[in-house]
Amino acid sequence: MKRGPEMRDLGVIHDAGILCSDGRIAWVGPMSAWSGALPGDMTELDATGMVVLPGFVDSHTHMVFAGSREREFVMRSEGATYQQIAEQGGGILSTVRAVRAATKRDLKRQTARHLTEMMRQGTTTVEIKSGYGLDVESEVKMLEAINELREEEIMTVVPTFIGAHAVPPEFRADPAGYVQLIVDTMIPHVGKRKLATFCDVFCERGYFDVDASERILLAGKEWGMAPKVHADEITPLGGADLAARIGATSADHLEHVTDSGIRRLAETDVVATLLPGVSFFLNHGYAPARALIDAGAVVAIASDFNPGSCMSSSMPLMMTIACTQMRMTPEEALSAATLNGAAALGLSSSLGSIEVGKQADLILADVPDYRFLAYHFGTNHVRRTVKNGTVLEF
Ligand code: NIG
Ligand code: FE
Repeated sequence: MKRGPEMRDLGVIHDAGILCSDGRIAWVGPMSAWSGALPGDMTELDATGMVVLPGFVDSHTHMVFAGSREREFVMRSEGATYQQIAEQGGGILSTVRAVRAATKRDLKRQTARHLTEMMRQGTTTVEIKSGYGLDVESEVKMLEAINELREEEIMTVVPTFIGAHAVPPEFRADPAGYVQLIVDTMIPHVGKRKLATFCDVFCERGYFDVDASERILLAGKEWGMAPKVHADEITPLGGADLAARIGATSADHLEHVTDSGIRRLAETDVVATLLPGVSFFLNHGYAPARALIDAGAVVAIASDFNPGSCMSSSMPLMMTIACTQMRMTPEEALSAATLNGAAALGLSSSLGSIEVGKQADLILADVPDYRFLAYHFGTNHVRRTVKNGTVLEF
């Protein structure tokens, strides 16, 4: 992982060569430094005039869903806010109704299509959360879909359980009862079947307060799920401090993180995962990326791809927004979208940069310079995506 000023250091190599073997990077350096014979059965990819980068690591998505929410998009264009729409029964709960009605096969089919689109745009690793089921059966259906896609698809897929994404309608009068259900039933069930690597909570006013979030995350930890937190997105509730206190792998969103939250994150290895597409799509203010990086935090960016708050999975677009709206430099945005994204999934020793021994997850971008990925936006520059050493065909 790279923190603070280290994020600007990309270690660019000009006229480089990369040798991949058995799905891993076996050699990387300037071609002038290569002295050995090349393996005879080698497949060669000519990247002359292009830039080769590590595949993007999208460390925060809700990309298993059913239905769509374009009506809410229109309502926001007419002035409604995300919270007002949620209070009227829309928002997360409208996708919950659609997911409960969907079969696992439908969920997988729709998600597989989205995964292909992501790989086309250079994403080679993705985290996917549950959280649109909100009862035992539907949360398990989502997690099974995610785990089956993990087996069947070439993309590296990391599953996260977020039963604490919203209080479902049947518990509206008894939110504490829902927290109890998560702790007593859902977490042991998911833990026993090893369906999730992480446990996440939406720590927010009207959703789960700091105490409930802490209870849930500690229960998840006991069942082997590392904590993640949706922190300080709409109000400064203290999610970042909670993440630091319990040693979460990441604190995500942080649009309204406090100064003390920034300090706490900078003192720890908790990855501050920023979601530029959400602020852009909901028009609700950006996370203080500059303050976090300047304080020395490990900052990642991710898409948060979901039908409500960010209907895009384009990591290059997230980089553009990070640069234009959050004053991150293109170098910082690239580190945030690759190596630090891997750190947000506890995978930075095997993914996220072009280093010998790491997985051969690479993209060939038809740009004269890496800065063009963020600079020349709204078009897909990725010509080839290589996953585990396999050149993908679309
Ligand atoms: O990360 N903040 C909570 N969850 C999602 C939104 C999901 C939705 O609106 O469906 C997020 O923004
Ligand atoms: Fe999210």
